Amino acid sequence: MEEIKELISKEQIDERLVELANKIDEDYKGKELTAIIVLKGAAFFGMELSLKLKSHMQFEFIKISSYEGTESTGRINNELDIEESKIKDKNILIIEDIVDTGRSMDYLIKHLNQKNPRSLKVCSLLSKPSRREIDVNIDYLGFEVPNKFIVGYGFDDEEGFNRNLPFIGYKEV
Ligand code: IMP
Ligand code: MG
Repeated sequence: MEEIKELISKEQIDERLVELANKIDEDYKGKELTAIIVLKGAAFFGMELSLKLKSHMQFEFIKISSYEGTESTGRINNELDIEESKIKDKNILIIEDIVDTGRSMDYLIKHLNQKNPRSLKVCSLLSKPSRREIDVNIDYLGFEVPNKFIVGYGFDDEEGFNRNLPFIGYKEV
């Protein structure tokens, strides 16, 4: 068994989610919000954050993939898309697990902007700034993390079964 080290505890995650939810509620006061949760990684984060939000919200899901093992292929596959009527003239908040090279988020922003949202913002639980290749603006960020391969709390690796660990951990690669 490979050893997984804890990086961010469930208590730290919960505290940060309350702060993010308060900020988002404040910013979207009096507005309707459509959260787009990026599957599969952000499913856990997206749900736990949403349960803390008081905003009037709708939910959509999009599925993209760019990874083979622990290395980004740089190619983005759009495996589940959202019809334009769900995005046009809406205040869209993309909820993602991590911005690593930035390629996936850059693709998502461009792709969703083609469907003419009223506004589009980005919320990501984690960011690995040392890995960035494409600059993307993150409006709501949980934590910056070092260049480690992250598992747990929704993050998975192809061979592992670590998605449902309650904390954010890492494996040495
Ligand atoms: P990017 O396109 O390089 O920014 O990669 C973004 C996607 O790769 C994320 O949405 C994750 O699904 C996945 N990813 C990047 N880093 C990690 C990691 O450390 N652990 C698990 N998945 C990761
Ligand atoms: Mg992802």
